[in-house]
Amino acid sequence: MIGVGWVGLCTAACFAELGHEVYARDILADKVESLTRGEVPMHEPGLPELVERNAGRLTFTTDMGEVLERAELLFCCVDTPPTYSGDADLSRVEAVLGALGDSTHHAIVMKSTVPVGTGISIGRRREGLGYVANPEFLKEGTAVEDFMNPDRVVVGANDGSGAFADRVAALYEPLGAPIVRTDVASAEMIKLASNAFLATKISFINEIANVSEELGADVKEVARGMGLDERIGGKFLQAGIGYGGSCFPKDVSALKQLAGNSGYHFQLLTAVIEVNELQKRRTIGKLQKHLGPLVNREVALLGVAFKPDTDDVREAASLVLAARLQGEGANVRVYDPVAATNASEMLGGARICGSALEALDGAHAAVLVTEWPEFAELDWAGEVGARMATPVVVDGRNFLDRDALRAAGFAYEGIGR
Ligand code: UDX
Repeated sequence: MIGVGWVGLCTAACFAELGHEVYARDILADKVESLTRGEVPMHEPGLPELVERNAGRLTFTTDMGEVLERAELLFCCVDTPPTYSGDADLSRVEAVLGALGDSTHHAIVMKSTVPVGTGISIGRRREGLGYVANPEFLKEGTAVEDFMNPDRVVVGANDGSGAFADRVAALYEPLGAPIVRTDVASAEMIKLASNAFLATKISFINEIANVSEELGADVKEVARGMGLDERIGGKFLQAGIGYGGSCFPKDVSALKQLAGNSGYHFQLLTAVIEVNELQKRRTIGKLQKHLGPLVNREVALLGVAFKPDTDDVREAASLVLAARLQGEGANVRVYDPVAATNASEMLGGARICGSALEALDGAHAAVLVTEWPEFAELDWAGEVGARMATPVVVDGRNFLDRDALRAAGFAYEGIGR
């Protein structure tokens, strides 16, 4: 594995679990040292145990020479963040290619999400280097489970790299999932199109939620009724305050940008992005409905991470909300079981609290941003109600028991209900 971030580490540990000897190389010496001591630097359920159990088959190193000497397949797992133009920044991928020197007996297996056409362009420049596209579909919080039980594995190769692709496909055979063999550009497109489609599903249900609020329908019931149609499917139909994370926002804008660069205006994705942006801001109106102007109001944000079971705050709705609330003059306090410290610099002047109750104490309103299970277990009718200055809750994930909260005297606002 070249690049031991979240994707590289999960993939390395899972391949080790399948019995392979894995070399994981990163340029950050501190990270390599702490991983060698068995310390996993991110919150991912099951990963520390996997790293510990397979310590004998996992070597963390900064030394590219050692990797080139020992490894047969080089998985490129570096990140490809968006640039100001919305294109993907491929500088780290280029650095990996540079570090390979003029090796021709290896294959690069691209796990990093790259623009469609990247593999072809690398192939043109690096004749003789094998190239296999093998996009990852892991979800943060369930990455180990997703790796071991994939819906499918995509392996893309062009002429000349077929033998390398066979070896990559063979690595995944024990998992028993369908292996989709394609050309490189199609494999690259499968990754971007899959994430764009899932984001579209979320923005679609969020718009149905917004219309349901006006027309008196309940989006939870609507999603249940829609999702049982196998052509639609029930997953990714949960309305909320918008999608975030390191992949969806980046990949949707990368695909839109790629289309634009090729002369095609991808109208649907333009709307998907806009709906998502507006969705985060609708919470402000819901708070104003109950509190009037938000100046000097104390607002508690429950959850900072972009979803539960991760400490990742990239593109999290909490960051936008905290900034918007402060813009309206509110005082913001936040609590998250694992992610708040990661985000402290991005939360403006928000007060970071050590518990949900501390955040709720004296608050005029609570906004549930991330559906951490502990928030459903709070004693809303008792202690929370007694401690809040006014009992107003905006449930950004339709996660709390609406009827119980209303019965306890809360002004409860969900999404699309
Ligand atoms: C996503 C893809 O699912 C994964 O295949 C890819 O490899 C990386 O990007 P991830 O970013 O970990 O994974 O998160 P995911 O669980 O897909 O959720 C993304 C966002 O969508 C979260 O903010 C989540 O809260 C939101 N979401 C998800 C909804 O708002 N509604 C839903 O129904 C599902």
